[in-house]
Amino acid sequence: MSDAVTPWLHILAVSVWVGPQFFLFIAALPAIRTIEDRQARARVMRVIVTRFGWLAWAAMAVIVLTGISNLFQVGGDTPLSWSTAFDFRYGRIFAEKMVLVGITVGLTAVHTLVVGPRQLALNEQMNADPTQVARLRRVSIAISVTSLIASVLAIFMGALLANHTYSFEPD
Ligand code: HEM
Repeated sequence: MSDAVTPWLHILAVSVWVGPQFFLFIAALPAIRTIEDRQARARVMRVIVTRFGWLAWAAMAVIVLTGISNLFQVGGDTPLSWSTAFDFRYGRIFAEKMVLVGITVGLTAVHTLVVGPRQLALNEQMNADPTQVARLRRVSIAISVTSLIASVLAIFMGALLANHTYSFEPD
């Protein structure tokens, strides 16, 4: 029973990481764009994006900690150990999952630290060049979509790992 706690927290944090990204794309951003007053629109955007950033990074910290904890729980009556992991599908799938995690974390960092702040600053400049705004928006969307796809694939890899009849087959 206590073994269920970290997988539960892992999945909970994954849903907190991924869920708001879908919500932002599908509901919040299109809604914000309908605000005609530019200053009000820029303010609403800053509040939502900043809080979304805190939420996402807190969730990622929990994902990484619980993911590491999950690793120490795998095994039990199964043939997995650190030295043999790559003899099974488990090792390869885990490595692929870590590449996807690296991609999503790296792209989110670029978005949070570089592209996002530039977008917010441009939104707040009343005389910003519309071509520059549009170009940065395209870059921002490309980064966010790629990061979201990497996260969704990482969820699939997690599901494959957790299916031990599949992942503990020899590779
Ligand atoms: C450093 C980062 C991570 C580590 C070390 C890690 C590790 C693990 C481990 C060991 C498992 C359990 C597999 C098993 O039961 O044998 C797992 C499950 C899972 N992981 Fe991760 N993970 C990490 C990040 C992520 C990320 C970023 C996502 C998605 C965005 C994710 C999604 C999942 C899912 C959906 C499961 C299946 C849970 C279940 O059904 O038990 N993980 N992870």
